[in-house]
Amino acid sequence: MSPKFMMLILLAMILALQFQVLKSCVEEERVGLLQFKEFVESEGYDADHLFPSWSGDPLSDCCSWERVTCNSSTGRVIQLSLNNTRKYRRCSYDSNCGNNMGGVIFDNWEGEFQRPRETIPVQDSRNLSKLKELKYLYLSWNAMNKDSMKFLGSLPSLVYLDLSLNHLEGPLSSVELENLKNLKVLNLYRNYLNGTLPIQELMGFSNLEILDLSYNNLEGSIPPNIGNLSSLKAFSVARNLLAASLPSGLCQLKRLQELDLSQNYFEGILPPCLSNLTFIGLLDVSDNNFSGTLSASLIHSLTFSWYLDFSYNHFEGSFSLSSFKTHSKLEVLQFASNNGKLQIDTENPPGWFPSFQLKVLALSNCSLNNHTNSIPNFLRHQFHLQIVDLSHNKCWCKR
Ligand SMILES: *[C@@H]1O[C@H](CO)[C@@H](O)[C@H](O)[C@H]1NC(C)=O
Ligand SMILES: *[C@@H]1O[C@H](CO)[C@@H](O)[C@H](O)[C@H]1NC(C)=O
Ligand SMILES: *[C@@H]1O[C@H](CO)[C@@H](O)[C@H](O)[C@H]1NC(C)=O
Ligand SMILES: *[C@@H]1O[C@H](CO)[C@@H](O)[C@H](O)[C@H]1NC(C)=O
Ligand SMILES: *[C@@H]1O[C@H](CO)[C@@H](O)[C@H](O)[C@H]1NC(C)=O
Ligand SMILES: *[C@@H]1O[C@H](CO)[C@@H](O)[C@H](O)[C@H]1NC(C)=O
Ligand SMILES: *[C@@H]1O[C@H](CO)[C@@H](O)[C@H](O)[C@H]1NC(C)=O
Ligand SMILES: *[C@@H]1O[C@H](CO)[C@@H](O)[C@H](O)[C@H]1NC(C)=O
Ligand SMILES: *[C@@H]1O[C@H](CO)[C@@H](O)[C@H](O)[C@H]1NC(C)=O
Repeated sequence: MSPKFMMLILLAMILALQFQVLKSCVEEERVGLLQFKEFVESEGYDADHLFPSWSGDPLSDCCSWERVTCNSSTGRVIQLSLNNTRKYRRCSYDSNCGNNMGGVIFDNWEGEFQRPRETIPVQDSRNLSKLKELKYLYLSWNAMNKDSMKFLGSLPSLVYLDLSLNHLEGPLSSVELENLKNLKVLNLYRNYLNGTLPIQELMGFSNLEILDLSYNNLEGSIPPNIGNLSSLKAFSVARNLLAASLPSGLCQLKRLQELDLSQNYFEGILPPCLSNLTFIGLLDVSDNNFSGTLSASLIHSLTFSWYLDFSYNHFEGSFSLSSFKTHSKLEVLQFASNNGKLQIDTENPPGWFPSFQLKVLALSNCSLNNHTNSIPNFLRHQFHLQIVDLSHNKCWCKR
């Protein structure tokens, strides 16, 4: 074969490859994205830095642009990552926006977030609605307000919406939610939502599997009709201002795998019917005002769990840690400081053998082994431990 001929073949292959790639981006969607970029620029953002590869060159394949993901068989845009756009605001000399947007965003963990005040204007742009098969939209860490939710409802195929770390404030009403009924995932972590839990408003959301309302200012109780959100697999209301006892409606969420109620003001007992939730992998009720005992049937039903946190409540009574013996997936087990009223025994029956390998164990202030006064023997079979807290137990001071 002559070198010339080989060259030709190579060229043909490159061309074919280019054609293939070119084919994978749908023209209408490419144009929609470019219009969106233009709009973002016109609103005072540095769109060339935000979307450097979004080029007007007709040979440019929008499926290879950053922040864009296509379905590789249809070439349709299915995911757009518009999270974290704050640092692309153009600042004029007279507006002092560098303090709010350009620099470091502080996260001191205990709540004081300094969030961007301004953000790319997704809520005003009709251009994105050309993305007829957009399923996943990441808008985390921007400054979206509730109006943006109304617009996003006009994206026909949306199933995954991440609006965590934004500026949604006030109560969430059916106005914001009405067009989002197809969502499977709604993430509203760390916003400024207040008022009561919008459960009534979510009633028609028959596909909703993941609902994250953690780190807001929601108050009131969990209403009994929570049970109607029967598709839920994960539900978090951690770190809100919720109170009252748990409704038995919660036990109707049979598919629940993760339930995070931590850092609220819930009280009363854990409803016995919680033991109906046999798929629970994560249960965090820490930092509330729950009381009563932990029933054997509840512990038994948590057989598949990997993360259990009962810390900082008012649980009482006594139980043997060996009741978790068959919980082979367990990695995190926390019973920190239940006011010293919970009595946990690790040596009953003597020589029991755990089927789990823990990473985290917290049994502080638990009247641990206050009869036998012994250091937990089962720890000798734990080889993955990273954190162990056995503090504030009276039992070893005598040794
Ligand atoms: C891509 O599209 C095809 C055809 O519509 C569909 O069967 C497939 O599930 C899609 N893949 C993804 C990752 O969405
Ligand atoms: C946006 O969020 C996705 C998913 O969490 C993440 O993988 C990606 O790195 C984020 N992009 C930016 C620019 O923050
Ligand atoms: C893009 O969206 C903006 C905001 O809605 C609108 O003003 C503009 O006309 C749209 N561009 C096109 C070409 O549709
Ligand atoms: C709820 O949030 C809105 C907007 O931030 C605020 O004006 C209102 O006072 C808040 N309501 C309560 C009860 O905190
Ligand atoms: C909620 O579920 C109950 C039965 O579990 C049903 O009778 C009721 O109509 C449902 N409510 C709504 C608003 O779907
Ligand atoms: C939970 O299971 C118990 C039987 O253990 C049953 O009587 C009860 O009706 C169930 N509750 C719910 C809410 O399904
Ligand atoms: C916790 O619950 C007990 C009753 O079980 C009550 O006396 C106490 O005031 C509650 N504490 C808080 C902080 O709500
Ligand atoms: C341990 O429990 C007692 C109540 O018995 C409480 O007074 C004390 O503050 C708790 N200690 C810690 C470190 O939580
Ligand atoms: C163990 O602790 C419990 C709860 O604090 C207490 O009632 C009991 O008397 C203690 N038992 C011993 C042997 O110290």
